[in-house]
Amino acid sequence: MIAPSILAANFAALADEARAVEPAADWLHVDVMDNHFVPNLTIGLPVVTSLRKATPLPLDCHLMIEDPERWAIGYAEAGAHNVTFHAEATGDPVALARDLRAAGTRAGLAIDRDTPVGPYLDILPELDTLLIMTIKAGLGGQRFLPELLEKVRLVRRHARAGHLELRIEVDGGIGEDTIAAAVEAGADTLVAGTAVYGAADPAEAVRRLRGLAVAAATAAAAATGAATAAVDTGR
Ligand code: DX5
Ligand code: ZN
Repeated sequence: MIAPSILAANFAALADEARAVEPAADWLHVDVMDNHFVPNLTIGLPVVTSLRKATPLPLDCHLMIEDPERWAIGYAEAGAHNVTFHAEATGDPVALARDLRAAGTRAGLAIDRDTPVGPYLDILPELDTLLIMTIKAGLGGQRFLPELLEKVRLVRRHARAGHLELRIEVDGGIGEDTIAAAVEAGADTLVAGTAVYGAADPAEAVRRLRGLAVAAATAAAAATGAATAAVDTGR
């Protein structure tokens, strides 16, 4: 799945920017930053509530905020399809994931650049989405860090061995030159901000990214003899 990040869109025209990718995107990625967990400050609950009415795209809310226990359920109630909070911001990810699922949304856990994923492998069954940052969270337009794909490989092996229903999402620096590496490592959900909204035609940029992702998944599956089940090729 391709999830354009509206962090790179024109904030004065978010409804139009969402509509621009509707024909091609799977999810719309919404970066919520609070100026505490990360230095940047972006958007919050009222904007998500308004976006929900402006587009049928499922909203993938990525909460880069302190104290997610206080705020995350509000995003579920606002109609988010998936709510991802950061491992570094919570002491009890299982409790919050259960609360999110009970509130009727999907629960995601995000792992920032400097956080190892090993301690979280045991709780993957509690999650719908694991988001592996491929940059340091906080700003769009940063350079992709390929060494962080080792975490994706580890989680993919673990998910496969345990037959887990888990989306493995990558976020940061994903574009035409990096998407194949992320897919080969085992990512099935790809966030792209600059690569989509920096393009003259955002929907066409999504289609090109999807083409590269599908090609990489097909090549990887052929190489390993494995099934392509992890990749949604529905479009
Ligand atoms: C950054 C955000 C990302 C950001 C990615 O912390 O989580 O979602 O929008 O932007 P690009 O694709 O430009 O790296
Ligand atoms: Zn994000």
